[in-house]
Amino acid sequence: MANIKLKPESVEKLKTDAIVIFLFEDKKNDTHYKTVDTKLGKKITSLLSKKEFTAKKLSVRAIDTLQKLKAETVIVVGLGKDRNFSAEVLRQASAKAIAAAKSRSAKSIGLSIEHLPSKNIGIAELAQAAAEGLILSGYSFTAYKKKKKSDNTKKKAIAIIFSQKKESIKVKKAITTAEKTARGVFLARDLQNHPGNIATPAFVANQARKHLQKAGVKCKVLGKQQILKLNMGSFWAVAKGSAEEPKFLIMEHMKGPKSQKPIVLVGKGLTFDTGGISLKPAGGMEAMKFDMSGGAAVIGTMLSTGLLKTKKNIVGLVPLTENMPGGKANKPGDVIKASDGQTIEVLNTDAEGRLILADALVYAQKYKPAKVIDLATLTGAIMVALGSYATGLFSNDQKLADSVLESGRRTGERCWQFPLWEEYENMIKSKIADMQNIGGRYAGSITAAAFLKKFTDYPWVHLDIAGTADSAKPTTPYNSSGGTGVGVRLLLDFLQKNR
Ligand code: BES
Ligand code: ZN
Ligand code: ZN
Repeated sequence: MANIKLKPESVEKLKTDAIVIFLFEDKKNDTHYKTVDTKLGKKITSLLSKKEFTAKKLSVRAIDTLQKLKAETVIVVGLGKDRNFSAEVLRQASAKAIAAAKSRSAKSIGLSIEHLPSKNIGIAELAQAAAEGLILSGYSFTAYKKKKKSDNTKKKAIAIIFSQKKESIKVKKAITTAEKTARGVFLARDLQNHPGNIATPAFVANQARKHLQKAGVKCKVLGKQQILKLNMGSFWAVAKGSAEEPKFLIMEHMKGPKSQKPIVLVGKGLTFDTGGISLKPAGGMEAMKFDMSGGAAVIGTMLSTGLLKTKKNIVGLVPLTENMPGGKANKPGDVIKASDGQTIEVLNTDAEGRLILADALVYAQKYKPAKVIDLATLTGAIMVALGSYATGLFSNDQKLADSVLESGRRTGERCWQFPLWEEYENMIKSKIADMQNIGGRYAGSITAAAFLKKFTDYPWVHLDIAGTADSAKPTTPYNSSGGTGVGVRLLLDFLQKNR
């Protein structure tokens, strides 16, 4: 992980290989870069006036200092229009900056963010965003490469500069928060990226236990016998077709007042989804190793929560299993019973995520939770609706929905709300059971959410991350291809801002 420090010095004095200067498209009279510009013989001014560099959002230009400064390179990065600026813009711009520094083989870089705070965004939020952009973009998954490419960001000493001494405590804290946040995101991404033959339910549960216990989070792992004893017939219906034993992972971080009702996080942990007897087509099925991304997000969030020593009661629940065809598998038409006694007619064994979540949502009731948020790569339909730039949000409580939407805007992990009116429940009525597990051709993501809602008796948000959890090409400069770890930063922001 990149090493980030705070240096309360002005940029031009900094002894780093590269200096990064952020510029707005429409605020070029800003004075913060003038000293550097003067030393460079007005090179920046000249680039701007010739429109060789326009400071459009995420545009980058490297300038050789020819020994006029201690640094060899000055990297100017555009932030776009001032009125569209947000912490997310800085997060992405910082990732762009470090990529440019890397391509010039710079070993250390200094960033100046002192001119960016405004009445809307404070220095702490900005410093955290910049540090996150720098750290998160350094992620790579090399576990299965014989020759590992060395991660040169590890050796790179990165400095975030903020020259006003009075703010340095805030900035230092923000950098530490970013580092602990990134640990959670990286754990989530690693768990996502491991292939299905390695990341079995037992493997995921063991990795979670290994990392979380060190961070002071209590872990319990239930196996087949305990799952059966809890009457989790819906979870078991999916798990029984697999040769791998299912696991039910329980993570508890009870660092709030005893009387405080916990926030419970639930994640879909399908370590591989073949579709079961309703088998998926072969093309692209390998991406179904990412069907545990909701679970990975919850595990990553719990790790960061432990590291950050958040003074709240937070519980994470992750049902882990494969969905396989086979002689013992769940069949279309089967009727099963969830742990709260409700019966389900399984019309399509590929709609399995909602089946394992049903029992986890019922289990959450034991905690008398203040709020429950579940994350799941639940439907292909959400990708049809939103593509890969937004997570689908569904809720039975508008106030809770609003605060999750707000966290999405702050972290860049944006969510978009869908309706969850009772009429949609008509679409999952079964002739012979209390409900059926699919709703037909239309509104697939909503009927999936309507199904989950039947197992909740608390304020609840469901996040369908099927479109945002992984991507073949990076969707932001700080993401890599593969698992994105989506949900971790969103949940951490939510947990920090809400009770
Ligand atoms: N894991 C899939 C959803 C999914 C699809 C995630 C594509 C990521 C990419 C889920 O279990 C599933 O198969 N859902 C079905 C539901 C259908 C049978 C009602 C789907 O979306 O096709
Ligand atoms: Zn499925
Ligand atoms: Zn699935």
